[in-house]
This record gives sequence, structure tokens and C-alpha cells, in this order.
Amino acid sequence: MDRRVKTASAFDIASWSARHLESVELALERWVSASSPVNVGHGAPAELIEAMRYAVLDGGKRLRPLLVMAACESVTAEVEGPVDAGQDAVLRAACAVELIHAYSLVHDDMPCMDNDVMRRGKPTVHVKFGEAQALLAGDALQALAFELLTPESTMPEGQQASLCRLLARAAGSAGMAGGQAIDLASVGASLSESQLREMHRLKTGALLQASVMMGAVFGRVDATALVGLEGYGAAIGLAFQVVDDILDVTADSATLGKTAGKDASQHKPTYVSVLGLERSSSYAQELLGQALGALAQSGLRNTCALQGLANMVVNRTS
Ligand code: IPE
Ligand code: IPE
Ligand code: MG
Ligand code: MG
Ligand code: MG
Repeated sequence: MDRRVKTASAFDIASWSARHLESVELALERWVSASSPVNVGHGAPAELIEAMRYAVLDGGKRLRPLLVMAACESVTAEVEGPVDAGQDAVLRAACAVELIHAYSLVHDDMPCMDNDVMRRGKPTVHVKFGEAQALLAGDALQALAFELLTPESTMPEGQQASLCRLLARAAGSAGMAGGQAIDLASVGASLSESQLREMHRLKTGALLQASVMMGAVFGRVDATALVGLEGYGAAIGLAFQVVDDILDVTADSATLGKTAGKDASQHKPTYVSVLGLERSSSYAQELLGQALGALAQSGLRNTCALQGLANMVVNRTS
């Protein structure tokens, strides 16, 4: 096995994540608030801010922000030390992806989509605040994500544009929103494996891959490294939804913090319905191998955090 792949076992991903999560939580708390530097003085209605905070704070694994930070570390020159996790621009990128993700969850749970009543261990946003507020909270979170990426001074304009482009593509009709449209149109249908892969790539994979590529914007790396990171992002992005499909069947609602067993009850085509549990699990492991292989080919020397996160994605229990 490649040396770089082995080093992941000596690297403590739990303490790395805990350290970075602290900065992410603090930044989200600060930016999604009535006194946020990006909202202050703009007269945002208190109830809308409350719904946005409810959707974003106090829950969530924050995998996407961690991927931004891990990818950033992998492309920065200091091979030994981590990047300063408090660095404003990186945190903005990390939080922007999480805001898009949180918005996608609010809308995904609404009665017109998956009609779910529990998310992150709490009643869903529309249950707590009503459908109209949930819709608007999602809209406002999406806008806030792009506002975070376009500060007036602290980030070079080229960097802002690259980050916005990556995030917009991953969130839009050729990414998450497009995948969600396919998901809704596929209820009750039997999809081929390649149709299912495409749906999952779009609805979930695109944003995870974009998280990786947004982290890469903060370094100067060659085409080989970018191809490696793209391959890694594609593999873990797909693996993430394969595992989500598996956990919907194998885990309980208390562990997941969301309603278990709903894919089958809503007649959604999933990896479990198409391949069965056993083959889905081995496919997730195969994708983990692909992700680690892409990193090994990237020529990047500091990929421990990315390796650790890939393992977390595939071997998680919630
Ligand atoms: C759930 O995402 C929705 C999918 C894309 C499958 P997560 O499992 O990352 O949800 P949180 O952020 O931890 O709540
Ligand atoms: C949702 O997929 C993907 C999103 C883009 C939000 P799911 O519908 O399977 O996500 P959960 O299981 O409700 O979290
Ligand atoms: Mg859904
Ligand atoms: Mg859902
Ligand atoms: Mg699911």
C-alpha cells in the first residue's frame, strides 16, 4: 500500500476534526445571527433569522466545512503543520458550503419534497416555523452563503469568483437542485445503476466534491493534484449518499436524528433497493479505495485529514 495511505492510521482525525469544528461552530454562530457582520443594520425580520439559526446551529456533522479545511491543508505549503483554522477566507468558504447544505436540508424535508418531521434530532424547520418561513429560511441561507464569499476587502476578487463559481455550479440545476429534481421524478420508478449513480452524484456528490475543490482554491497546485482532488471528491461524494441509503435501512431514528426507513416507505430508488445491502456496503468500500487511490496519485504530501474524512464518510454510523 502507498505510504501516504498508511499514514492516515497514525493521524488522529478525531482531534483534528474537533479543533476545526470549534472554529466552524463559532463562525456559523456569528454569521447566522441578527447582529451578523453581513446582516447588521439591514432590518432582517427576527423570525426569519430565528428559523435560519434553527436550521444551521446546534446539529450536523459539518462534514462539508471539514472537507474545505482538509483540502486547504493539503494544498498549502506547510506540509507539517495545519493551516490556521481561524483564517477568515477559509472559514468563509467552509461556512458557505454548510449554509447551502443546511438550506438543501430545510427544503428536502418540506411536505412538497420528502415530507419529514425530524432533522438533526429536532422537529424540521417547517414543523417548527411553518412552510413559508422554511422556504424563505432556505432562500436566505443560500443568499447568505454567497454573501459570505464576497466580502468587500479581505479576499482577492479572483478567489471570490472561483469559490462562487464552484459553489453555484454544485448547488444549481447541474448539481444539488438538479439531483433533487431527478430524485422527486424517480419516486416509484426502478432506476438502472447508472441512473442512480447520476442522481446521487448530482444531489449529494456535487456539493461534497465542491467542498474539496473550494479548499483547493487556497493553494497553488498543479493539474495532477487537481485531478487527484476531483477524483477523491467524486468518490467520497457518491460514497456519502450510498452510506446514507444504507443507514436509512440499518440505523434507527434516534441514532440518525432523522426518520429512519423513509426511503422504502416513500418508494425512493436507492442503492439498497437497487443493489441490496451487502453489495451497497462493498460498493461504499470500493469508493473509499478509489478516493484514497486518487489522493495517492495526486502528488500532494499532506493528505492525512482528507484520508481520515474519507474513512469517516464510509464507516460512519450516523
Ligand atoms: C444529509 O447530510 C443529507 C444528505 C446529503 C444525504 P448529512 O448526513 O451530512 O447531514 P448533517 O449535516 O450531518 O445533518
Ligand atoms: C438529500 O437526500 C440530499 C439533499 C440534497 C438534501 P436524502 O433525502 O436521502 O437526505 P436525508 O436522508 O433526508 O437526509
Ligand atoms: Mg430527499
Ligand atoms: Mg430526505
Ligand atoms: Mg437519505
